[in-house]
Amino acid sequence: MFELKEKRILLGITGGIAAYKAAELVRLLRRSNAEVQVVMTQAATEFITPLTLQTLSGRRVRQAFFDPNDEASIGHIDLARWADLILIAPTSADFMARLAHGLANDLLSTLCLAATAPIALAPAMNQQMWLNPATQANAKLLQARGIKLWGPGDGEQACGETGPGRMLEPAELLAQTIKQFNSQLLAGQCVLLTAGPTQEPIDPVRFIGNRSSGKMGFALAQAFVEAGAQVYLISGPVALATPTGVTRIDVGTAIEMQQRVTEHINRCDIFVACAAVADYRPKATAAQKIKKSREQLDLILTRNPDILAEVAASTVPPFTVGFAAETEQLIKHAEEKRRLKRVDMIAANLVGAEQGGFERDENALTVLWEGGSKNLPMARKEKLAQSLVATITERYHAEKHPTKDS
Ligand code: CTP
Repeated sequence: MFELKEKRILLGITGGIAAYKAAELVRLLRRSNAEVQVVMTQAATEFITPLTLQTLSGRRVRQAFFDPNDEASIGHIDLARWADLILIAPTSADFMARLAHGLANDLLSTLCLAATAPIALAPAMNQQMWLNPATQANAKLLQARGIKLWGPGDGEQACGETGPGRMLEPAELLAQTIKQFNSQLLAGQCVLLTAGPTQEPIDPVRFIGNRSSGKMGFALAQAFVEAGAQVYLISGPVALATPTGVTRIDVGTAIEMQQRVTEHINRCDIFVACAAVADYRPKATAAQKIKKSREQLDLILTRNPDILAEVAASTVPPFTVGFAAETEQLIKHAEEKRRLKRVDMIAANLVGAEQGGFERDENALTVLWEGGSKNLPMARKEKLAQSLVATITERYHAEKHPTKDS
């Protein structure tokens, strides 16, 4: 709910039937704690009343360019400077054309010319209008200038036709907005992750290992890349493709994982231990395959290094995040683990027969840190990874640059 805390969104609304959806969009943005300033074109007011948007946004809606009262309170240039993002939803074909040609014949188009903030458009129009070469050329030109196009989607249209031109749903626009801000938050930062299981050899063909698909670690690596970070992923044996932009280092045993982490840790700002590291390894590995000649076989196991605890105990530790997979008393055990390992944050989840296996595509987490916690509800691991990265990013920045309310 705090994904857009202190973010200032200037929501432009142009004339089109999808304008009615802007009300829901304002509500969702406000619920994510964004500040929302609505600016409407004249045509937009034919579809939805400024009063509705004013009530939902909690701010006076701006429409007219030449309004001495508005200009006295906050002028149009200041309004352009105020925004962290200009989102225009819906964007009509006419507005795209005006923007492509740099016209400044109303408040919204002028703001776009004066703004330095990123601009995102959510086109909404009849499918023939969208497919028209003029609109397509405008879309390409705007994109080439760095303006983002979110949508349009495909489907049934208000005019009765079916095809491309539907405005993305408010929830999708909210997700894009959150992604837009996340994508800049870890730029220039380096993240090191461990993922997957480790395999501790008993002999050349057998090993001791934990059940782990590596999906969560890989999804996290992807989400960190999307957040702008440089990402190193040290992975045990898994059957997963490397996410684009991630530097992957494959390992087998816990000792190998520890060595690779030691090699890379100094350059990293954030360390996330997602691997299901085997706590013990056979004291000796047989050189040849062990034959089943004996009735009983005793294996002597020795403790593996705790990679996460070692990193957290280093002289200048990065921001450290661990996982706690527990079968009972989730919060108690996870909190104990957080304190014992002295990590900045721990992400706890229930595992076991009732909760489902490690190979699931969905999960839920409770994230704990000193003085705070957050529940991340059941979601696909990709979505959950994005939420966790957002939470890590928030805490990382809060601890790096402490402010009064952090
Ligand atoms: N971890 C690690 N190195 C190990 C063991 C665990 O880096 N040798 C990390 C895991 O990646 C995870 C966290 O420590 O982030 C917790 O691991 P877990 O196995 O749940 O806890 P343990 O510390 O092993 O405690 P226990 O098995 O007693 O629950």
